[in-house]
Amino acid sequence: MQAKKKSTELYLEPDLKYSLYEAAVQDPIQQAEVFEKIYREKHGEQPHILREDFCGSFLISSEWVKRDSKNRAIALDLDPAPLDYGKRTHLASLSPSQQKRLSVYEQDVLEATDLQADVIGVCNFSFFIFHQRQTLIKYFEQARKSLLEGGVLVLEMAGGPSFIDAPFEEDRDVEYDHGEQEGEPWFTYRWTHRSFEPLTHNGVYTIGFTLETGEKYPDAFVYDWRVWTLPEVQECAREAGFSDIRVYWEMVEGEDDEEESTYEWITEAGSEYETWIAYVAAFV
Ligand SMILES: C[S@@+](CC[C@H](N)C(=O)[O-])C[C@H]1O[C@@H](n2cnc3c(N)ncnc32)[C@H](O)[C@@H]1O
Repeated sequence: MQAKKKSTELYLEPDLKYSLYEAAVQDPIQQAEVFEKIYREKHGEQPHILREDFCGSFLISSEWVKRDSKNRAIALDLDPAPLDYGKRTHLASLSPSQQKRLSVYEQDVLEATDLQADVIGVCNFSFFIFHQRQTLIKYFEQARKSLLEGGVLVLEMAGGPSFIDAPFEEDRDVEYDHGEQEGEPWFTYRWTHRSFEPLTHNGVYTIGFTLETGEKYPDAFVYDWRVWTLPEVQECAREAGFSDIRVYWEMVEGEDDEEESTYEWITEAGSEYETWIAYVAAFV
């Protein structure tokens, strides 16, 4: 009998997968602050109802209901795996009052929700999953129907020459951010641009993790994206009926570990950017 070959591909169990993802790419306090700032700069008051689209483990919604006892959040995602992780971790750690103000639905964001929101937030370029213009406009129309008067759809985007450069990879070391090992090395995060096609603006991007203990998970997340441009997104939002569309641009201060990002409403960005991050804010 032949000896069984040892598999080199390790199974990444969901709890580890989503905790590594959150530690590497999410900053729920900063994202909630951006939503509040965008809404406040238009209306002079705080928003209270957030719908988090493509929510994954709904980390931002969990932060949202903690920030203010008047806040409510609705979180939508198609995939039961991150939703289940979020329910067992984030939802379970909220107080009963906070839990009551957070609703999580396994639902396609292409369907409107009955409960209307002040802000619909879309982070980490998740709407790049839609490849066709028609689908993007349909999504924007459904989002518009799910917003209250004066409400805003906030779309986090990335672009610039370096973002469409392929093949490309970049590593970043991440430390434990809580618990007994806080501050100690945890894992290396690898962001890869596997391919990019200029004719379609479709690209394949991956996230991989290598734990300090040596286990490697090179393709933990694989994204097949249409890299939409800022003018395209603004045009589609206008076609979907949004009236006031603003672009908030990332401004970075400090260096390395001291880096801090703020987002400012701009009408001109200049040309010095290799990769940029911005939020498009489309008001009803
Ligand atoms: C890049 S992850 C975003 C996770 C997290 N919200 C963040 O900002 O990092 C994209 C998520 O979108 C979900 N998704 C993809 N298409 C969807 C759709 N049509 N409706 C709802 N969720 C969708 C996937 O299941 C996945 O959890």
